[in-house]
Amino acid sequence: MSKKLHVAIVGATGAVGVEMIKTLEKRDFPVGQLTLLASARSAGKTLPFRGQEIIIKELRDDSFAGVDVALFSAGGDISRKYAALAVQAGAVVVDNSSAFRMEADVPLVVPEINGADVKKHKGIIANPNCTTAITLMALHPLHQEFRVKRIFAASYQAVSGTGAQAIAELRAQVHAIAAGQPVEKHVYPHQIAFNVLPHVDSFLETGYTKEEMKMQNEGRRIMHHPTFKASVTCVRVPVYRAHSVAVHAEFERPVSLTAAREVLAKAPGLDVVDNPSKCEYPLPLYAAERDNCQVGRLRLDCALDNGLAFWVAGDQLLKGAALNAVQIAELL
Ligand code: A2P
Repeated sequence: MSKKLHVAIVGATGAVGVEMIKTLEKRDFPVGQLTLLASARSAGKTLPFRGQEIIIKELRDDSFAGVDVALFSAGGDISRKYAALAVQAGAVVVDNSSAFRMEADVPLVVPEINGADVKKHKGIIANPNCTTAITLMALHPLHQEFRVKRIFAASYQAVSGTGAQAIAELRAQVHAIAAGQPVEKHVYPHQIAFNVLPHVDSFLETGYTKEEMKMQNEGRRIMHHPTFKASVTCVRVPVYRAHSVAVHAEFERPVSLTAAREVLAKAPGLDVVDNPSKCEYPLPLYAAERDNCQVGRLRLDCALDNGLAFWVAGDQLLKGAALNAVQIAELL
């Protein structure tokens, strides 16, 4: 019988944290004890797990005594401050923030792609950026067959990626507009309802955003492909949940649609939804709350050599965050 583990979730009340709790339950993860941690604002409130209400505690330096696995999703600053304390206390940390993703001794893992990297951990394992993880679920199987050189991509990212406050902001703006009332904005620099913002994360000197460069930087580590190039425009769209990405990929080897479909049909964690004549293609509305990502709109790219264009969608709270983190914990 497998050992029951003491699991802690840091940021348990957040958009991802709540999904982590549900994912542990759904996948029957061997939880012996569950500790839910958040800010002082949430201390004393409860969240359900396996039919019980678990009391949320305030995150403190000594929160990790006896914890085996700590799942962090409370932002980079909290991870930088508390992950080391969790490791010192004997826990293995799976971190959903970007704090450690590029550190050489921290494996950056999508279990379907580089699950074996988990073994190299020294206490912390990083969960990739959501848009990167969802894109690689389709790109990596194609890379194994055709060797990807570079991609051009544009993302259509749901507000859930920004967190619970952003979901509430979109909802409030939609209600205000429908009622003819003035729109308030707190989370994004512009109104997100009935708008699209070509701005995710902060801008770099090159003009790209940090989010846009994660595809190349994290993609190289996850695929073990140091020369992979990605030019991406990341766009926030008024969708509650699930990201979509339009990808144009150039490969070293000749690509055929038949071979690409075969490879994608066999890929773990991915469903091919590609029947344009019946208006069937991946949609964020239907990819939401599903574990598997979806790929479709497959076509030979008319502007690239050995190129394939496709559209991939996935629940950013699940494969892009909570599910991937729990899958990593399962590998441990
Ligand atoms: P809280 O709900 O108590 O503010 P999201 O990404 O959806 O915005 O969620 C962020 C998560 O990080 C929430 O669970 C939030 O808890 C938690 N969090 C934010 N600041 C802190 C903090 N200073 N200490 C502990 N948890 C925090």
